[in-house]
Amino acid sequence: MEYKISLIPGDGIGPEIVGEAKKILDKVCEKYGHKFNYEEVLLGGASIDACGVPLTQEAIDTAKSSDAVLMGSIGGDAKTSPWYQLEPSKRPEAGLLAIRKALNLFANLRPAYLYNELKGACPLKEEVIGDGFDMIIVRELTGGLYFGERKTVEENGVRKAIDTLTYDENEIRRIAVKAFEIAGKRKKKVTSVDKANVLDSSRLWRKVVEDVAADYPDITLEHMLVDNCAMQLVHNPGQFDVILTENMFGDILSDEASMVTGSIGMLSSASLNETKFGLYEPSHGSAPDIAGKGIANPIATILSAAMMLRFSLDLDKEADAVEAAVQQVLKEGYRTVDIMSEGMKQVGTKEMGDLIAERI
Ligand code: IPM
Ligand code: MG
Repeated sequence: MEYKISLIPGDGIGPEIVGEAKKILDKVCEKYGHKFNYEEVLLGGASIDACGVPLTQEAIDTAKSSDAVLMGSIGGDAKTSPWYQLEPSKRPEAGLLAIRKALNLFANLRPAYLYNELKGACPLKEEVIGDGFDMIIVRELTGGLYFGERKTVEENGVRKAIDTLTYDENEIRRIAVKAFEIAGKRKKKVTSVDKANVLDSSRLWRKVVEDVAADYPDITLEHMLVDNCAMQLVHNPGQFDVILTENMFGDILSDEASMVTGSIGMLSSASLNETKFGLYEPSHGSAPDIAGKGIANPIATILSAAMMLRFSLDLDKEADAVEAAVQQVLKEGYRTVDIMSEGMKQVGTKEMGDLIAERI
């Protein structure tokens, strides 16, 4: 089959890790007889440097015309990069939010899975880890605080900043439906996370999620307050299957969930709209401190490419092959520096990509 893929290398380590993911996709094409036509799209700091803005209409159009988008990471060092001298709406992150909105990518899926081979990297005690954990955070991505009205004003000489958290029931319903659909293919449990003891938006969230749950009688629904969830993630992570939550809570909890796996460099993510289209990116950032050094872990981006094969292109066995190759390389003891432990073989970004490609 022939597909059109938009590639967004982005900033920091982005170009290095996207390069390795492309290597893997090329190997998939060769092995399974597909053709991927790539088109490069500028986003974030790379787009600011080339076009003066973090996202152009041309970039949106190119992304829209493709079957899927694979992205590295965007952003730089806020203390030293000139991008952060610009007003907030012109900075790299604004480009990422704008492309999510423009492509209507309301469903952000962030799996957090403890690899048996990487148990040693998990910061939790053995008795807390138990049999390991395998959860997926389903984060609402185009609403809430990120997209509500915001402004900074001065009243009687006092500066005041306002951010607004808005959700309508349709936004809640469509992300809840995604979460229940996903849970149906997993351990059939949804934990909906909110702050219903304080926020109106959370109280509506709870009601709508309960309405949706009525259509999925075989799936267990529980509600959990976000502060409790933050605690439960380090207390008993094995209890979770699907965590359904709004944008801001999902941002915070997904970083925490990734850390308990011990290896943020391993975690993929998918941002989907109502159709099969999606944008795939690692859960980690652009790590400007190690950019260009050839040491970044490309696995999260490679696993994001596997998610792309599965969700957007319906290439399940190809996705399985990529995931199995990653597992195999870990089993053989190869590690990038971020997941390195005693007795293992340390490799750089490119070598890691080569090793995985060879095993497909
Ligand atoms: C993420 C990131 C972004 C977010 C930033 C870069 C705007 O932290 O994808 O989790 O907050 O959504
Ligand atoms: Mg984040």
